[in-house]
Amino acid sequence: MSPEIRLSTTPAHARHGSSIGQPLTRRDGALKVTGGARYAADNHPEGMVHAVLATSSIARGRVTFLDLDAAKAHPGVLAVMTPANRPPLAEDPDAKLHPFMFRLDLLQNDLVRYAGQPIAVVIAETLEAATEGAALLAPRYETLPARVGLDGDTPFIPAAVGIGNPAEVRIGDVEAGLAGAATRIEAVYETPAQYHNAMEPHAIVAAWDGDALSIDTPSQALAMAQGRIAGLFGIAPDNIHIRSPFLGGGFGSKGFITGPQALGILAARMVGRPVKLVLRREQMYGPVGHRAPTRQRLRLGVGRDGTLTALGHHAKTTSSTYDDFFEPAADVAHTLYASPAIATSHEAVRIDTGTPLFMRAPGEATGSIALESAIDETAWACGMDPLAFRLKNYAEVEPISGKPFSSKALRECYAQGAERFGWSRRPFAPRQMRDEDGLLVGWGMGTATFPALMFQAEARAVLKRDGTGVMESGTHDMGQGAWTAFAQIAADALGLDMARTEFRAGTSDLPDAGIAGGSAHTATAGMAIHHAGAAVIARLADLATGDARSPLFGAGNAGVVARDGRLFRRGDESRSESYGDILARAGLGEIDARGTSAADPDAQASYAMHAHGAVFAEVKVDPDLGQIRATRLVGAFAAGRVINSRLVRSQYYGGMIWGVSFALHEQAVADPRSGRILNANLGEYHIPVNADVPALEALIVEEHDPHVNALGIKGVGEIGVTGTAGAVANAVWHATGRRCRRFPIRLDDLLTGR
Ligand code: MOS
Repeated sequence: MSPEIRLSTTPAHARHGSSIGQPLTRRDGALKVTGGARYAADNHPEGMVHAVLATSSIARGRVTFLDLDAAKAHPGVLAVMTPANRPPLAEDPDAKLHPFMFRLDLLQNDLVRYAGQPIAVVIAETLEAATEGAALLAPRYETLPARVGLDGDTPFIPAAVGIGNPAEVRIGDVEAGLAGAATRIEAVYETPAQYHNAMEPHAIVAAWDGDALSIDTPSQALAMAQGRIAGLFGIAPDNIHIRSPFLGGGFGSKGFITGPQALGILAARMVGRPVKLVLRREQMYGPVGHRAPTRQRLRLGVGRDGTLTALGHHAKTTSSTYDDFFEPAADVAHTLYASPAIATSHEAVRIDTGTPLFMRAPGEATGSIALESAIDETAWACGMDPLAFRLKNYAEVEPISGKPFSSKALRECYAQGAERFGWSRRPFAPRQMRDEDGLLVGWGMGTATFPALMFQAEARAVLKRDGTGVMESGTHDMGQGAWTAFAQIAADALGLDMARTEFRAGTSDLPDAGIAGGSAHTATAGMAIHHAGAAVIARLADLATGDARSPLFGAGNAGVVARDGRLFRRGDESRSESYGDILARAGLGEIDARGTSAADPDAQASYAMHAHGAVFAEVKVDPDLGQIRATRLVGAFAAGRVINSRLVRSQYYGGMIWGVSFALHEQAVADPRSGRILNANLGEYHIPVNADVPALEALIVEEHDPHVNALGIKGVGEIGVTGTAGAVANAVWHATGRRCRRFPIRLDDLLTGR
């Protein structure tokens, strides 16, 4: 194991007592800022060569010619892999054995299904030679017209959306609720295609040794990656060793092994040498997933008393011609506002695009910007303040299911966020505020929500005679600080301080930590760590309480507590014994135990589980030029127990910045003629830079949840995107009086309307 995967430095703030709750800095922070963290593409095993993808410049058709002679003749080029000669696979890349098996483009034939699809791989001694070789292929095509955008001509109703939700859900009678309403609004909102654009591109260094495979690649789900590769290559999962100690972001795009990563493994097999394959930025706009565009129709009815009588949310989106993935954009309407009638539905069109994929708050982010805009429009139409309207329609139970919430401190989020922001000073009508430079100022708000999910995970705990402990779980730190938070949970679970706790993560030989996705990683792997610690402490307690020589003899397993490397007798703490003494007397060097976690089906059946938040936004708009700046954001979030407030705030900030980006910046533009993404680069695909980021505040609202899991942890990774985008859009309306329903909002929308 490489040294960077073992960290047991002592953080400056470490104290005796509980590690959970301390605002520690990232354990891997120093490695990252000094360049000591080794990312996948930083690896250069002996004899390594380089692979470069050649990708399709058309969106639909067939490859009819590749100039293989020219590419092979280029100095340094070792091989060109095409459908004609690529090594065999044990599994059809177009197989779909379960819903989370995404179809891959692995040179299985000459068909082109989207622009940017890999059509050949050139392997060479140097990156330059491989790049030049790929350019020399000069492909020719038989081209069919590309189908682009939401008005494509192959509509269908998906069988399921998101992670298996029904495509249509209804309670009550929305049509009757609308017909009887005193106020009705109907509005259509559009969101664009977005790409994950993690800072670190998908990269792989793959080396075969017979049937054993060693891989450096970023992954949000090591065991799933291992299983997928095992299936494709027909080898045992245990023969695959994946190292993924650091990820430069993932946002969902590294949740599953992608086609280019598998092509890197194929290239290594073909040339019999270790191969490195790294995507160029523009190559990330195709085979590694994206957020599909949506068109959403919102219909709301409100009675004379200001309560909702009906809420209809219909979302149309796009998917690829060869696979199924749909953002459940309308499902956000299931949770947030009380209404006697709610109907949500989805439809999609198949277009010539790479298959869309989970992307930070998939469904919740897109759905939220439409719903929160519509709520704002409805409040205005009813003559009500947007916060008062939300409180009037506050959901005391989950509207769609009627279940009580396991916990819901949203009212406190509204109150604390509004107070901090100064919401009570907001003029009701738009276009009422100017700053000292004459810019229009607007204030808007949105509600944030994300489900509190849990998946399955495992961890292994070790206590050693020298008084230290080890916790192992193959968790994934894509920048969110997981490593640090898990080490904190591990230290508490072992009854040790952080300095005596080693936390091992990031490789596939460790216990399966599940996927770092769905904002569920901390709860899922955290509970496995918690249980593993409890199990090893129970073994230790057995050794002590069953031994007449121990001061704890006869206390029984429940009669001891573990703290600071000692077991204490409950109720008589003068009687205690150190871990080391217990193990030494038993003649043991170390003991270990495993722990697992999974969602509790009984609790899930009884309660609706969500994190909540309220986001308040200020924007300034130039009245002449239409230029929009987000200037101030306050978010207040309640997400159960906080393991590390510094890292949690950082997650909220990241999400809120993405919300600003959603409202004002990001958009992938597909050329309607070629189907190519025209702005497949970070120059023209606009993500916020520091100058675009407003003053940010994230308030952590206290919330105790006895039902989600024993530690009371909900997720914090995705919720910040929701709520924020709508808050910014609503602030633009409040500044200008102009309602923009197509995102991102651009200055020309304010000058001309569209
Ligand atoms: Mo996230 S889109 O669940 O990685």
